[in-house]
Amino acid sequence: MTNHNEMTEKQINITYQEFRTVDEMIPEDRELANEAIAAMNCAYAPYSHFHVGAAVRMSNGQIVRGSNQENAAFPSGLCAERTALFAAGARYPDKDARSIAIAGGVYGRLGIEPCTPCGACRQVMAQYQTKAGKPMSVIMIGSSRIWKFEKVDDILPLIFDSI
Ligand code: THU
Repeated sequence: MTNHNEMTEKQINITYQEFRTVDEMIPEDRELANEAIAAMNCAYAPYSHFHVGAAVRMSNGQIVRGSNQENAAFPSGLCAERTALFAAGARYPDKDARSIAIAGGVYGRLGIEPCTPCGACRQVMAQYQTKAGKPMSVIMIGSSRIWKFEKVDDILPLIFDSI
């Protein structure tokens, strides 16, 4: 008979900060959050009408914006986060992404709850964090609250980066 007594139950704890408005954030994060909100205006979302903006802060202080870009062949479109991260990687290949902010809402109106990134975008964030060798913070913005996670691990536990 199998002995189950060796099994131990583990927990993964995630700590994050919640803010009511961007004004409660440190100036650097507030600026990035406002950039993400502004980037929503550049979304091309004729199918979902869900406009997402993202802003990436690089290690040289530069901010790169992205927005979701949809396509009639749906999988050919891309989320705002990956648009921003790939643009940042292409523009500043020798710099690191230090932080990313995300904002989204239907018809370009900022949603009440924070916009949370999809799994594929989290994986791409993880890759650039690994490339940097330093934590990349993730800021998710809603009109009622804003969340800040200090590192990608907090939104993608047990990251795959082993190859
Ligand atoms: N989308 C993003 O750009 N980022 C997210 O975090 C969630 C989803 C986009 C993809 C698609 O264009 C639209 O939002 C609806 O899913």
